[in-house]
Amino acid sequence: MAYKEKIDMSRLPVHIAVIMDGNGRWAQQRGYDRIVGHQNGVTSVRETTEAAAEIGIKYLTLYAFSTENWGRPKQEVDALMELLVDTIEKETPTLNKNNVRLRAIGDLSRLPEGAENKLRNCLKQTETNTGLNLVLALSYSARWEITAAAQAMCRDARDGRLNPDDITDRVVASYLDTRDMPDPDLLIRTSGEQRISNFLLWQLAYTELYFTETHWPDFRKENFYQAIYEYQQRERRFGK
Ligand code: IPE
Ligand code: IPE
Ligand code: MG
Repeated sequence: MAYKEKIDMSRLPVHIAVIMDGNGRWAQQRGYDRIVGHQNGVTSVRETTEAAAEIGIKYLTLYAFSTENWGRPKQEVDALMELLVDTIEKETPTLNKNNVRLRAIGDLSRLPEGAENKLRNCLKQTETNTGLNLVLALSYSARWEITAAAQAMCRDARDGRLNPDDITDRVVASYLDTRDMPDPDLLIRTSGEQRISNFLLWQLAYTELYFTETHWPDFRKENFYQAIYEYQQRERRFGK
């Protein structure tokens, strides 16, 4: 039986986060340049977004580019940025057709100007959509996010807008880029690596982690549904 049919639709995760990893290895194994792996990864993004929308997942966060990824060779960074802009432009009508709202977390000011503008354009064009929230983590890292939150809290305390004694974990969360999103229920990482790589460190506190050997360019709807099925076999205790 297909995994989709095995999923209990009454207990779906609300928020699924994905570390899309293994594009470079997928390409190298086939004798291609790494960028071909990134290009093929776009199909997986499309499939995963469709799969999430089909069953009514509310939030899908995709780790597309980390703060540390700026340190890759310029040629790869440029190619990734171009791919990003092209894909976003091409997919905006489909997102609108499917009632998907695009969002972004991360330091967007570091993106090349053209890329940032085109991204902001798409964010604006899909902002009233009420279906799936597709969240791109771009130029994102959790330590960047938490550091920025600490700076903002200190500024507000200095200017009398925030009393340090009133800071709770909810207040901290309200200073993060994810302020209006629930924490992920499930994190998927592809390509066999079992680490977090500076992704959502605060938000993953009680998230279920799922690792698969499949490289991102091979990831399809069935892989996504399998991850949800496996998630549903687990017992979440939240320390209780
Ligand atoms: C993930 O694939 C995509 C990005 C980080 C942008 P990689 O490029 O990390 O591929 P591997 O892990 O080297 O195979
Ligand atoms: C994490 O993958 C970042 C993204 C998927 C965007 P990396 O390939 O950059 O992480 P490491 O280097 O394996 O930890
Ligand atoms: Mg990688």
